[in-house]
Amino acid sequence: MLSQAELKANVARAAVDYILPLVQSDDIIGVGTGSTVDLFIDALAEHRGRFRAAVSSSERSTARMTALGIPVVDLNQVESVPVYVDGADEIDHGLNMIKGGGGALTREKIVASVARQFVCIVDESKVVETLGTFPLPVEVLPMARQAVARALSELGGTPALRDGFITDNGGQILDISGLSIREPAILEARINNIPGVVTCGLFALSGASVALVSTQNGVKIMQAATDAARS
Ligand code: 5RP
Repeated sequence: MLSQAELKANVARAAVDYILPLVQSDDIIGVGTGSTVDLFIDALAEHRGRFRAAVSSSERSTARMTALGIPVVDLNQVESVPVYVDGADEIDHGLNMIKGGGGALTREKIVASVARQFVCIVDESKVVETLGTFPLPVEVLPMARQAVARALSELGGTPALRDGFITDNGGQILDISGLSIREPAILEARINNIPGVVTCGLFALSGASVALVSTQNGVKIMQAATDAARS
């Protein structure tokens, strides 16, 4: 029985194999944040010569890549990237995700937005029928924390401040529990529209292009299921 750490290491290596044929030597790769991505960065560093540099979604990933000799460039110098690789806290069969367990959701969404492909890397425990068991992270401007929390309560969730945590952007995180998210794109737009919200951790308006899912029987590729295909 593989542990979760071994499953993460397997999908991290599989992600490197998946993306290398998609990149040219002068390409920039988009890199996410988290423990799975840490292992992806370690595996990617062995192929430094196959791409020009990376654009990073957090100070954490920047530090790890820099330490391993992967050049990191500012997003303002980059028009688009062929591929963005990141983990998720939950992913459904439509490739909608909850992200932000590591608090990097805003930069992750920004970097993902310039990528032609979002490759999500998860172990099988992250695949769910309906998003919302994992509390939904929402980054807020500190002065708006209470106002946003009240608005989120009206949507049916229970917000909790992530105590003592400040994002790379100087924001705070409200983690919203008690949501059963049946229409993730609609909820994403509604939450993002609350004044004081920087962004929410739903990635549904623009979800993953593909997910690599690490299972006890190897890494499987998950494409978005259509309703017709699933019934
Ligand atoms: C960080 C994220 C991560 O992708 C998510 O939390 C998954 O992390 P891990 O790979 O450690 O399970 O969104 O903001």
